[in-house]
Amino acid sequence: MEKATIKVKRFDGKREWVDSYKVDIDDRTTLIEALMDIQNYQDPSLSFRVQCRSAICGTCGVKVNGEKHILACKTKVVDLLKDGEVLVEPLSNMEVIKDLVVDHSQFLEKIKQVKGWFEPVDQFQPVYPEDVEKIDKETDCILCGACYSICPVFETDPQFGGPINFVKTYRFWKDKNDRLKDERIHLAKANHITSCVHCKYCTFTCPKQIPVEQDIMQIEFYGKQKGIIEEDNLNQGFGFSTPFGF
Ligand code: SF4
Ligand code: SF4
Ligand code: FES
Repeated sequence: MEKATIKVKRFDGKREWVDSYKVDIDDRTTLIEALMDIQNYQDPSLSFRVQCRSAICGTCGVKVNGEKHILACKTKVVDLLKDGEVLVEPLSNMEVIKDLVVDHSQFLEKIKQVKGWFEPVDQFQPVYPEDVEKIDKETDCILCGACYSICPVFETDPQFGGPINFVKTYRFWKDKNDRLKDERIHLAKANHITSCVHCKYCTFTCPKQIPVEQDIMQIEFYGKQKGIIEEDNLNQGFGFSTPFGF
């Protein structure tokens, strides 16, 4: 057992501040366990999201040390400590409701705009392992919002659909039993897929190892080949430098 200092950015609807807590951890203690320990034994007013504690439900996303966007239930505290401390903040690009609890409704609304669900064909075709392989990773998306949180594009284009939504586009576009086909590419274009600056931070951040940026690239490439996305429309002139030096 060792003592770790967990600093948490707090918000009560009006005011922001940082609280600091000492927690006993071992080398297997996850960040969510540390937050639950704080809530149970030190400060019942601390708010955060947790459900499955198994990296399945996607609810426990947080930002740590101002740089990593992680699932708190999948990440060990020892792997986050810097000089015995870790700073925990809510995810970015989403409105904070209280402490570490953010409002997911904006990106859920954007998923509706790209029809991020299965639209079945009338006559189902058999699905073989090679068909499943094409969408295997994308099917694993747990809607955690980590990629949405780290994406720099929202600073300049709030209408950008966001990486989660284009993962959904890809997932169903590549499904042989989905009937929307090219309509999905038109929807991706309407949701500013070409504002992506291909920094790959979504890919590096995804806790499910989904190749998010590569999927976006494939959708854009196909759209360009088919004339759905005009060549001079690519990147739409948002040539800004990101906070990550790209
Ligand atoms: S690759 Fe595109 S979608 Fe992913 S974080 Fe960068 S700008 Fe956002
Ligand atoms: S693509 Fe990955 S990071 Fe983004 S919401 Fe899905 S699981 Fe989370
Ligand atoms: S609590 Fe479900 S993913 Fe972390």
